[in-house]
Amino acid sequence: MKATLNGNEYTFDGDMTILEAARSTGVHIPTLCHNEFLEPYGGCRLCLVEVEGKRGLVPACTTMLEEAMTIRTESDKITKSRRFVVELLLSRCPDAVAVQKLARSFDIPFDDERALDPVGRYLLYRAPKREKTNCILCNLCVRVCAQIPKRFALSFEGRGIERRVRPPFEKPAETCIGCGSCAYVCPTKTITVEEVS
Ligand code: SF4
Ligand code: FES
Repeated sequence: MKATLNGNEYTFDGDMTILEAARSTGVHIPTLCHNEFLEPYGGCRLCLVEVEGKRGLVPACTTMLEEAMTIRTESDKITKSRRFVVELLLSRCPDAVAVQKLARSFDIPFDDERALDPVGRYLLYRAPKREKTNCILCNLCVRVCAQIPKRFALSFEGRGIERRVRPPFEKPAETCIGCGSCAYVCPTKTITVEEVS
């Protein structure tokens, strides 16, 4: 299958997503909710790219590559969209090291209110906040539990700023085998494992 990526034509074999195709050529697309061993989720919207002929940006991690596709992974529109995603994450999780690192990579001056753009200033300093959390709602912990040990011991509950990860019915899940895979995949170290004797 032939496709054009950032102006260069490549030949790809087999079914693959735009993200997989880009990675196979060494093109970097930032991701947060993606893990190559889990089913794509498309939740964080950090991997959005432009595909000629499609309206709006599309997530690279869930969009399958098609014959003769023309894709751009970098543009002003894409950068603006990714910065907005990072500002939203900073607004929710200002102390999460992984988010701060991402913000630095996008030159977002998150620790200087006056240097932020108006949207960032609103999101980081004015928008209503829930209690502090480092959970970026990437869903990796929920998916790994359901897809690898197949224990379904975690799920999302609530909406909007109240959304969070919990065991079903707020009780320690009886199905949990303590494998620690949720802690292992968590990019913000929100989940930790401790030995109980
Ligand atoms: S607890 Fe960690 S892995 Fe789970 S959704 Fe939050 S950030 Fe993602
Ligand atoms: S990595 Fe594609 S939407 Fe999160």
